[in-house]
Amino acid sequence: MQASQGTSPPNATGPRPPEQAAAIDLIAAVRAYLHYLASTGLDALPSTAIVPRPGAAAPATIKGPPEPTEKPRERRPGPLPPAAAAAPVEPARTDLFVDPGLSEARTLEELRDAIGDCQRCRLAPGRTHLVFGVGNPHAELMFVGEGPGRDEDLKGEPFVGRAGQLLTEIITKGMKMRREDVYIANVVKCRPPENRNPEPDEIAACQPFLRRQIEIVGPKAIVALGTFAAQTLLAVRTPIFRLRGHWHDFHGVKLMPTLHPAYLLRNPADKKLVWADIKMVLAELGITV
Ligand code: URA
Repeated sequence: MQASQGTSPPNATGPRPPEQAAAIDLIAAVRAYLHYLASTGLDALPSTAIVPRPGAAAPATIKGPPEPTEKPRERRPGPLPPAAAAAPVEPARTDLFVDPGLSEARTLEELRDAIGDCQRCRLAPGRTHLVFGVGNPHAELMFVGEGPGRDEDLKGEPFVGRAGQLLTEIITKGMKMRREDVYIANVVKCRPPENRNPEPDEIAACQPFLRRQIEIVGPKAIVALGTFAAQTLLAVRTPIFRLRGHWHDFHGVKLMPTLHPAYLLRNPADKKLVWADIKMVLAELGITV
């Protein structure tokens, strides 16, 4: 386990008064939120309201998934209106709030070093390992999940539990690729306690890492695994059953949302939907199986 570091350490003369501790927590949350706004390409903070420039993601979209229920949150769809592609997310135009070490990292190793023994959010004290990512650093295909679970936290590698085994089967048996041919990462790098959903400030604190990871790997395509990853990356709240099966744009990279393997463990009949999505990915990569 990492050494615990609260957000409100005692000062030299004793514990901080609760109001001061609350203010420090608030500042940390605002700072993380500003990181997020900067990553959406926000140009300026108007005096009366925060209005992202046209095409940028709306801040409300990172308020987390619609229902705080048991994961995964994929819901069987009712009759669907015609699927609408998510609004493309434009590239960020400023690094104002992003650690210079992150934007300067040229390799995954440098990025990992820049992240260091991360204490940027509340997830740090509870983790065993920061789960950075695994796979081919120049992969054409990247999978992005939600965040580490217990097995991943213990091993320090994404998707190694039961859902991970299913993902590995999709890659090896379905796509006829090796797990080490692709790159696998998560939206948040540290396990949320009791596998709860990551909170907006935790996502905001971690988002620059994933953004830079994607830039460094430079995949041709990203598969977003499940509601949370798809909605976070695309900055939309569209249900996964409307997002999946269609290509979306993530800063110029093609992104295919699909159902999370953990959902498939409970709903194996929906594997055919994932296979349909994966076939589109294979076609995009020019791979025949
Ligand atoms: N689920 C995820 O979203 N990511 C993991 O790494 C494991 C399970």
